[in-house]
Amino acid sequence: MKILAIESSCDETSVSIIENGINEISTIISTQIEIHKLYGGVVPEIASRSHIENITLVIEEALKKADITINEIDAFAVTYGPGLIGSLLVGMQAAKTLAYIYNKPLIPVHHIAGHIYANNLVKRLEFPLISLVVSGGHTELVLMQKDYSFKKIGGTLDDAVGEAYDKVARILDLPYPGGPKLDKLAHQGKDTYNLPLPLDDETYNFSFSGIKSAVINLVHNEIQRGNSINKENLACSFQNRVVEILSKKTMKALKEYNVSNLIIAGGVSANSGLREKFEDLCKKNNIKLTVPEIKYCTDNAAMIGAAAYYAYLDGRTSDLSLSSKATDELK
Ligand code: KG4
Ligand code: ZN
Repeated sequence: MKILAIESSCDETSVSIIENGINEISTIISTQIEIHKLYGGVVPEIASRSHIENITLVIEEALKKADITINEIDAFAVTYGPGLIGSLLVGMQAAKTLAYIYNKPLIPVHHIAGHIYANNLVKRLEFPLISLVVSGGHTELVLMQKDYSFKKIGGTLDDAVGEAYDKVARILDLPYPGGPKLDKLAHQGKDTYNLPLPLDDETYNFSFSGIKSAVINLVHNEIQRGNSINKENLACSFQNRVVEILSKKTMKALKEYNVSNLIIAGGVSANSGLREKFEDLCKKNNIKLTVPEIKYCTDNAAMIGAAAYYAYLDGRTSDLSLSSKATDELK
């Protein structure tokens, strides 16, 4: 089954053709980073306008790269949410139009289900598994007993981890998107700053607004005192604390739920400190770890096409009354 999938929830216009949820035939990702960089973050109105300009070109490009015609596509999939509503609507309208014209099923996919299924493109998922979801908008621990069955066991009470990365990067004057640049800086420094371990309790919930504020206050105080900041060391201390709490709670969940498969999902799964820590811990604890390919950690349509196949098998197709949702629980 060949699915043409569309992702446009934030600032990437992406189209991919995926066969049977596992074989990637072609993927095109058109990023708007250079445009939003000028403003230090994504400007929603500019993002939706750029999606409109790009969408048909990206669809054509994906078909061309796959060397197939649109008549060979068996279904159309789209990220229905969560995300920026104006951006989501562009992908949604394109997918609905194609499903209508070619009279093929329309498959709505939750963006986070997509991030999780980016791992299925590396290796077929094995169940039960726990997924640590770490992106710009989400930080969650999700238990899956089988395909397309999601049980949230914990999540952030405030900021998502990627959001905290981007805000800390901004205070350190790193250009948008700051997460990857902060990660790089962290490797050049030492853990010298005394930052708190965020929400170190018995629950599976997370909180990153405290550590973000701690970094912002520390930088302001040092500037007021006329002292300089060692950016590398501050990045290293921040990254260590974040990775420490994410790994501590994830390893605890694996033990408590007696699960030996772990996958990491979302933009922050590209973080090198996080990857290194989990590789080490999983080796020591006999946990099978899967992480997405770096190019599919951040937003892309390949992950949506992979998830869509299992959504389809689960009967989750939709008619043309489908709407985009800015917020929606993964279920
Ligand atoms: O999954 P994603 O592309 O978008 C959302 O669904 O939110 O994630 C984007 C987030 C951004 O906050 C970005 O700074 C962060 O992922 N990110 C990273 C790294 N690469 C991307 N954060 C830390 N280290 C990285 N290497
Ligand atoms: Zn995402």
